[in-house]
Formats: sequence, structure tokens, C-alpha cells
Amino acid sequence: MEVKTSLLDNMIGVGDMVLLEPLSEDSFIENLRKRFDHNEIYTYIGSVVISMNPYRSLPIFTPEKVEEYRNRNFYELSPHIYALADEAYRSLRDQDKDQCILITGESGAGKTEASKLVMSYVAAVCGKGQEVNKVKEQLLQSNPVLEAFGNAKTVRNDNSSRFGKYMDIEFDFKGDPLGGVISNYLLEKSRVVKQPRGERNFHVFYQLLSGASDDTLKKLKLDRDFSKYNYLSLDSAVVNGLDDAANFRTVRNAMQIVGFMEDEVQSVLELVAAVLKLGDIEFKPESRCNGTDESRIKDKNGEFDRRQTEMCELLGIEQSVLERAFSYRTVEARLEKVSTTLNVAQAYYARDALAKNLYSRLFSWLVTRINESIKVTRHKVMGVLDIYGFEIFEDNSFEQFIINYCNEKLQQIFIELTLREEQEEYVREGIEWTNIEYFNNAIICDLIENHQNGILAMLDEECLRPGTVTDETFLDKLNTICAEHQHFESRLSKNSKFLTDHSLPHNCFRIQHYAGKVLYRAEGFVDKNNDLLYRDLSQAMYKANHSLIKQLFPEGNPAKVNLKRPPTAGFQFRASVGTLMKNLQTKNPNYIRCIKPNDKKASHIFTDSLVCHQVRYLGLMENVRVRRAGYAFRQAYEPCLERYKMLCKRTWPHWRGPAREGVEVLMADLPVPAEEFSYGRSKIFIRNPRTLFFLEERRRQCLQDLATLIQKIYRGWKCRSHFLLLKKSQIVVAAWYRRYAQEKKYQKIKSATTVVQSYTRGWQVRREYRKFFRANAGKKIYDFTIQRIMQKYFLGLKSTMPSVSPIDKSWPANPYRFLDGVHTELRRIFHLWRCKKYRSQFTEEKKAVYEEKLEASEIFKDKKALYPSSVSQPFKGDYLEISKNPKYQKLHSAVDEKVLLADVVNKINRANGKGTARIFLLTKKSVVLADQKTGQVKASVPLPDLASVSVSTQSDGFFALRLKEVTSVKGDFLLSSDHLIEIITKLHRTGATAADSEQLDIDISDEFLLQFKHDKVCVKFIQGAPKNGNSVSCKRKNNRLLEVSVPTTA
Ligand SMILES: Nc1ncnc2c1ncn2[C@@H]1O[C@H](COP(=O)(O)OP(=O)(O)O)[C@@H](O)[C@H]1O
Ligand SMILES: [Mg+2]
Repeated sequence: MEVKTSLLDNMIGVGDMVLLEPLSEDSFIENLRKRFDHNEIYTYIGSVVISMNPYRSLPIFTPEKVEEYRNRNFYELSPHIYALADEAYRSLRDQDKDQCILITGESGAGKTEASKLVMSYVAAVCGKGQEVNKVKEQLLQSNPVLEAFGNAKTVRNDNSSRFGKYMDIEFDFKGDPLGGVISNYLLEKSRVVKQPRGERNFHVFYQLLSGASDDTLKKLKLDRDFSKYNYLSLDSAVVNGLDDAANFRTVRNAMQIVGFMEDEVQSVLELVAAVLKLGDIEFKPESRCNGTDESRIKDKNGEFDRRQTEMCELLGIEQSVLERAFSYRTVEARLEKVSTTLNVAQAYYARDALAKNLYSRLFSWLVTRINESIKVTRHKVMGVLDIYGFEIFEDNSFEQFIINYCNEKLQQIFIELTLREEQEEYVREGIEWTNIEYFNNAIICDLIENHQNGILAMLDEECLRPGTVTDETFLDKLNTICAEHQHFESRLSKNSKFLTDHSLPHNCFRIQHYAGKVLYRAEGFVDKNNDLLYRDLSQAMYKANHSLIKQLFPEGNPAKVNLKRPPTAGFQFRASVGTLMKNLQTKNPNYIRCIKPNDKKASHIFTDSLVCHQVRYLGLMENVRVRRAGYAFRQAYEPCLERYKMLCKRTWPHWRGPAREGVEVLMADLPVPAEEFSYGRSKIFIRNPRTLFFLEERRRQCLQDLATLIQKIYRGWKCRSHFLLLKKSQIVVAAWYRRYAQEKKYQKIKSATTVVQSYTRGWQVRREYRKFFRANAGKKIYDFTIQRIMQKYFLGLKSTMPSVSPIDKSWPANPYRFLDGVHTELRRIFHLWRCKKYRSQFTEEKKAVYEEKLEASEIFKDKKALYPSSVSQPFKGDYLEISKNPKYQKLHSAVDEKVLLADVVNKINRANGKGTARIFLLTKKSVVLADQKTGQVKASVPLPDLASVSVSTQSDGFFALRLKEVTSVKGDFLLSSDHLIEIITKLHRTGATAADSEQLDIDISDEFLLQFKHDKVCVKFIQGAPKNGNSVSCKRKNNRLLEVSVPTTA
């Protein structure tokens, strides 16, 4: 999108002086100063550009700047010379309007630089292409050539143009440059022979001497040493910052680009050399016979000869011809020819005149030659005028007069054209024209150029007048004719008005130019106007065998002798200025007014008085007034609407209708009086700068608000989009991270699963296949074998089982040693089992019998020899069947207790040992002895009275019942029975079961004591020889011993 900007943006001071408020000289200068201090060297007055010389390079002439200003409207950007160049170029290209760019200002104000900037801008923006580029180069390169020959160092400017230059650049219909025409005005040729203090001759002399090769110098017969040449001032031959040698190469190169042939360049350099050498010719007086002095060329120790010869060789002139030309002067009047000798002064005058003419003609030839190169048929033209500005020196002479005249003319045309333009614009826009008052300098121009009584006309008249003509006669003439003119002053004219002015010397006159009063010294006016070159000299030059010299002095051709005097310098100048003015009037003017800020060529210094002076004589204040007379500011409707549309709700942000209506709506909406505006056809005119500033201020405020709004929205947007981006990124990052994390986790789980799986599978497989493992085979086989062995063992055992009789002692042999424990255990179990089985067959009675048997065994086994024989005898108990046998009825009833045992025993008589049968009854409570036949109870012993029972170890049936001592009356009983074992056992059992009785002691020994009545008798059992068969014999041996002999059993 195109950015619409304006000159009014970021202004330092005001960019256009028309907007200056209040307008005064002080504020004007203050504005310039302010802008200058901020490096703003350009300021507008409407379409006029004021340019301050910065005296240093600023970064505002770059290709980027060119691009910036290209195709932009004049007021769109801050003031710049490029804006003016662009405007001029575009109206030339697009509207077919010839343009001229008028650059004025005093010496050193930057005119030449400005003209170069304009040309370089146009060169940069116009079309490109081989042909076009060549033309551009030629046009641009004409500058260094002309500057070398026409510029010099002065006190004001190190590169001061000493000629006026007007260059028409010609373009084709597309705006591409085709070529150009250069006009030069009044070269300051006096500089060739003499330079003021601190200044130097034209650059080319120094450039040639320092830059040319030795070879070239030799050809030109020159010496590198400046001091050898009279015409070169020495005090400032070397200028700081000027590299003459390098510039010489630039000039040579430029000449080549412009189209000079090698031999032409050579000829030009030869002429330059000749001028230098001419300065070294000196004269001496030589008295003649007629008494007059005649000048002769001085011969310095033969030096002259060499120089003169060299110069003549250079120019191809015969020495004698030259010598004669410097000695004689031929005056031709009608058909008469009078030859007079020249004195030394005249000879020097002639020499200098020749040098000046030679040089200035060479310069003009150069211009013509360049024109030849760049000449084309006319199309569109842009003229660039770089002419010396107004000059007011302490000592002003003919040159200043001419120059200032030229500036008067330019001012005149400026006023005319500015006003005309203004007027035309008003008409064009349909705005009512209000008359503008301004100072018209036509009256001054008239004072100078009037054909009858103008100063120039009178000077010419004086010069042409026969008789003695001096500067004084000229001044007299002025005094008589111009005395009444209000812009002319001299001592005499003042005196006539009875005014004395001591600042006005006698030989001077003063003209009040539009830019200030200038005092001219009349001295030299006549001579300079005459610009006399003796004909002998031009003829001598014409005779030269050098094509260029011949061309430069055509009047020396004897075939074309012209008795008429050549036109005077003043006349020529007036004519060329006239042509120039005519030329300019046909074109659209563009002004660049150059101002120099100080006299020191220094950057950053702004001298108020100096600037003020320039502002005055350039008529800039007038310029502003003219411009402001009607309306201070104007702007086309479109840009105006574009710029201010935000000031009104109806036009913001878009106005749909025509721009003009929009502007009208806009202005009506603002609190500005209606007379402040005029609506033209395409532009709005604003009368007062204040109104514009008001608009600007409102706009600035609006823009601030809008900027805040935009900022706000932008920031919001930026933050939002940043946030969204972050969020998006975060999601992406998170997604990737999650994916990564899950992937990792999954991998971990997967590998873990695989491990678990593999273990499980391994375990499963191992489990499945364990049986097939060799390692397990041993155990298997072992188990199996063991099983088989056990099976065999058990089966074997089954078949070889012993009988179930508990007394059977047999048990199969153990076939396997390792089963020893089992075998023994099984035997034990088996035995227990068969015993139990055997026992389970027993009845209660039988069980009791066996219990008794068992008890008997416990008591007697291995203690009494009788015992084994008792084992097989059943314990019948009631052998006598007491209850059934009526015999014992009585006895039975006497006992009235259940009889546990009833048997017949032998009661051993204590006295002799003879036995008597007795019935032995055992009940639960007592032991009863009864008579066998009668059944009469003989003794009853309650069981508790029994102390113990004694028996022998032998196989006899004797037993003694020993009573407790208290109860024993008769003493203990010694009895014998076949059923001894049964009796004792039952007795023991009964005693044991009686609740209140103690265990009955059973004493088994072969010797024991018995209490018989009062005696204690020892019963002793001995082994006796069998006497009465196997019966036991008992004998009372003494009262203390009863011996029982028991037969030994085999
Ligand atoms: N725009 C500029 N930028 C920088 N320096 C400048 C500018 N214009 C002029 N000058 C300086 O001022 C000097 C004099 O300028 P010049 O154009 O020769 O003055 P004039 O032609 O008016 O006598 C130049 O040599 C240069 O140093
Ligand atoms: Mg200049």
C-alpha cells in the first residue's frame, strides 16, 4: 500500500516558509537557522527551494533517497532538491512542458553543486539503456571539463565557477535524455593574467602541470614547477582537498567520454601551455630615432630565445611575426593604414589581452565543441542555469556590474513567472484573483539596459566615441543622464540634491539593486567593455600553423578585414542575457535559491547577518509575500481528503463520493470560518497558515488516538497469536512428549511382558518337559524301583506271613537291609494286631481268668519254680462247688459271701509238720478255713488282718499267711495246696480290690519266719532227694526250724 505522507510530517520549524507565522524577517531567518541546525538544508517557499550550503557531505544524496523521492508529489516528503528535480522531470515527461531550473545565489552558496545534484537525479530516474547511458555520461562528464577550464579557487569558494552556465538537456518523448546545449556567459578572463590575493588561476593550469606525464609535458615544452610561470599566483597554488593531478586524469577521461579526439585534446593543451608561456614574455623599452619609445621583447641571458622559440613552435607561428605584433599597432581607417609603435606598457597590455582572449576563446570553443557532441534536434527541454549570483564586494567593477545586471534580469523573470504562475493557477482553479503588491525591479533593469539612456548603452557610446575616452568621461555622462533615476546615486547627483554622502567616492557610482545598494568603481569600465585586442595580434594568430588557433581568431583573416569595431563586452552580454531571458520565459521555471551560511566555508556555522543579507537581496521575503498574497496553502482534493479525513466522522474511514464533496463536508464539520477556504476546481485553497496548523494539530491528535487504537488491536492480536502459537506448540510438544513417554512406557511393559512371558513359557515348557529331563530320570527310576521293591516286599511279606497266634515267634527274614526299621516295625505292629485280635475273642470270664493268669505271671514268673506248671492249669476257683454241694450247705451259708475260691488245702501242723486237709474259702472279705468233712469253720481271717503271704522259690505248694500281730492269737498259718499259684493270685487280687485294704505283700524266699503262737519259727526250704515219690516232705526239726524238702525236678 502506498503510504501517504506529507511535507507537514515531522517538520522542523516549518518546511514551507509560506506557513511561517508570524511572517517577519527575524522569524524567517530563525526558521532557516533552526532547520540548518537540524541538518535540514532545504526549505520551500511554495515551489521554490531554498538551499543552505552545509559545507560538508550529508547522507541525503544516496540512491535510496533518489528512490524515496522518485514519483512522489512535491509536498509529500520533507523539502529536498530531489523533490524539485522530480517535479520538473515529471512535468517535462508527462505534460510536455519544457522546464528550466534556475539556480541562483552568491559565490560559494552551492549553485554548481545544486545543478549537479539536479542533473544526477534526472540521470538516475530517467530511462536506461546503452544509448541513453552514453548520452547521460556525456552530459554529466561535460561538467568536469568545463569546471577545469572555467572554475578557480577564490576566497569564497575553492571551486568557484568563473562563468555563467546554462545547459539545456533535451529529452525524447519517453523522457530519455538525447543530448543538450550548453551556453556560457562571461568568463572572468581577467583571472588568466592576474589573480587577487588568496586566489588562483583557472584549475586547468595547475592540473596540467601536476597531472600530465613527463612525456606530455616535454611535448608541450612545459616545466612542472609552478613558480616558473608569471601567470600562476603562488600564494595559493595548492588548495586543500583539491587533488590537481587526479582531477587532470578525470578531465582527460571526461573529454574522451564527451567525444574529444586525441588531436583536439592535444591542441587544447598546447593552447593552455601557450597561454602560460605568453605570461613569461617580458618587454624592455628601446628608444627610436624619432624620439619615441618602442618596446622590444626582453632577452634574459638567452632565456627569451628559448621560451619564445618554444611558444612559436607550439603554436606554429613564425617568431618574427610574433615579435612584430608585440611592437607595432596598425590602425586602419578607411583605406589608410597607419602603423604606430607600441611602448612597453602597451606591449604588456597587448600580451595580456592576447592571453585573455586566447583563453576565453578557447573556453568558448570548448563549449561549442561539447555542444557539437551532445547536440540533437529539439524535443523536450530541461534547462539548468548555474549562473553567478549577486555580487557585492568592497571593490566592485565592470564584472560585478554585469553579473548583478544578470541577476536583476533573473529576479525580474522570477517575479513575472511566479506571479504569472500564481495567477494562472487561480484562473485555472476558478478562484478570484486578488491583486498582489510587490516590488517590481523592472525599473532597475531599465536603468541598466535601456537602449537610449541605459548605463550599458552609454558605456557603449563612450567606447565608440572618437576622441579621448576615459572612465571619468563615462562617469560624467552617467551623472548627467541618470542623475534623476531613483536607483542611481553618485557624488555629483547627490550634490545636486544638496546631499553630502562621504561613503560615495568621486570616481564611483551606486546602484540600488533590488537586493541592495552596490557601489561600483568606474575605473576599467571602458577598457573592459572594449575588450580590445590589437588587430596585429589577431592577424598574427591567424597566421599560425595551428588549426585550433586559426579557428579562434577568425577576424585575423586578411580576406575578411572588417573595419567595424567588434561588439563590446557589455553589448554581447546584454544580448546573450536577452536571449537567455527569452529562452527562460518559454519554459516552466523551477527555482533553487542557494544561501551560504557563513563566510568561512565552515559547516555548522550560521551567521545571521550574512544570511539576512542574502535573504534580502534574493528577495525571499517578497517571494513569500507574493506566494501568500492570496492563499497561503493549496492542496489537491484527493491528498487533502486523504490527509484530514479522520477529522470528521462522515469522511472517516472512507468517503465514497467525489473528493471535493468529501473535503467540503469535512471543512464544514470543522470549527473554521468559511472565508478561510476557497474551493478551486481541483484544489482547496487555505488562506491562513494558522488554519492549516489547526488542521495539522487536530490531525496529530486524531492520529495519536488512532495509533493507540491500532497499537491496542495490534498488541492484542500479537499477544493472542503468540499465545495461540504457544498453545499450539505446547500441544504439539505435549503430544510428542506423551507419545514418547507412552512409547517408552509401552516398550518397558513390552519388554517386561516378554520377560515374564518367556519365563512363564519357559516354566511351562520346563514343567511339561521336566519328566523328560535326564536329571529327573534317576529319581523316577529310583522311585519306581523303590515302589517295585516295596511292592515285591509287601507281596512277599503277605505270602510269608506267620500265623496269627500270638505266641508264634516266627517272622519272615528281611530281604532288604534298608527296610530293617520297617520290617521290625511291621513285625511289632503285626504282633500287636494279632494279640488284639486274639484278645477280642475273649469272654468276660475268660478275660478275668487271663487277668488272673497274667497277675500270676507277674507275681511268680521266674520267681517260683512251681509257676510254669501252673500256667496250663485253668483257675477254676470253686473246686468244691460249694453252693451246689449240699455237703457244704452250712458252710456256704456261714460265709454268706460270694466264694471266690473253694479248695481243699493241707494245713501244716506247726508242731510236726504234718498236714491236715482243710477247706479253704476265699471271699471278698476274708479267708476262711473249714473242716473238710463237716464243713465247720475253723478259722476266719478278715483280709485286712493279713500282713503278707510268703512262698518259696521251689516247686512246692507251701504258703504261709502271716497275720498282723495284733490280731494273731494262734499265729500265722502255713498251708499247702496244689493250686498254690491260683490261691495266692486270687488272694493278691482280692486284697488289691478291697477298697480299704493295702496291697498284700507276697514274699518269695526260701527262708522266712512265722509266728506260731508265741514262737517264731523259721521255715526253710531245701532241695531234697525224692523219697516219697515226688511229694514234699515237711519236718519240724526244732522248735525254731521247720524244714521243707522239695524234690528236685528234672
Ligand atoms: N549540497 C552540498 N553538500 C555539501 N557540500 C556542498 C553542497 N553544496 C555546496 N557545497 C560545498 O560548497 C562549495 C561551493 O559550492 P559551489 O556549488 O561550487 O558554489 P557556487 O557554485 O554557488 O559558487 C562546494 O565546493 C562544496 O564544498
Ligand atoms: Mg559555481
